[in-house]
Amino acid sequence: MKKQLLIFLGTMTLLVAGCGEEESKGVEPAVMTDALFAVMKADRTNYTKLIVKRMGPQGVNAVMPVEHWKDVDNGIPLPAQMFRAGSEAVADMTDSFTYSLQSLWPINSQNAPKTDVEKAGLEYIAANPGMNYYGEETLGDTTYFTAVYPDVAVSDACTQCHNEHKDTPKTDFKVGEVMGGVVIRVPL
Ligand code: HEC
Repeated sequence: MKKQLLIFLGTMTLLVAGCGEEESKGVEPAVMTDALFAVMKADRTNYTKLIVKRMGPQGVNAVMPVEHWKDVDNGIPLPAQMFRAGSEAVADMTDSFTYSLQSLWPINSQNAPKTDVEKAGLEYIAANPGMNYYGEETLGDTTYFTAVYPDVAVSDACTQCHNEHKDTPKTDFKVGEVMGGVVIRVPL
């Protein structure tokens, strides 16, 4: 009887320890980055469709979405600039992830891929519409889970502005096409 009790207690301890291990693993990186991306994509699409598209390039209403918005009295940031403002504000709050908007055909050369995984990810999502890319990379002393998600031309506001921009290396973007990607990096 005593032996049975010991075995029972031992088994319970193992079970509890097992549960503890499960919990300490935390959220799978891809589940986390997928969820983060959903928030970013929703904000980005809404800003473009609800604000920028309604205001129009001529700024028919009180404010005008324009690249050099700081120099214009009624200027407001473009979608990509709004996105970067978010990413910079997040970087001030947490080290648990970073994110950026990039492209193989950037208007702003600072938005070109910088690492091999970023480049491979952007090439993959452009060649495989609707797919995400997940990779790992070591930068300095840290290994990262790096996810790359398609940034799609959800409106003709996207394609028109890019195709006509003086600094664009690509002038034939079409609605529905992948124009770039959101890179989310989580230290492992
Ligand atoms: C009114 C002009 C305008 C509109 C509308 C616009 N963009 Fe951009 N986009 C820009 C400019 C200018 C930049 C560079 C901003 C910077 O980094 O300072 C940019 C940056 C980007 C980038 C990063 C790579 C690059 O080109 O520098 C992507 C990807 C992108 N835009 C996709 C889109 C998509 C998708 C939409 C629609 C949801 C959109 N843009 C709407 C002007 C525009």
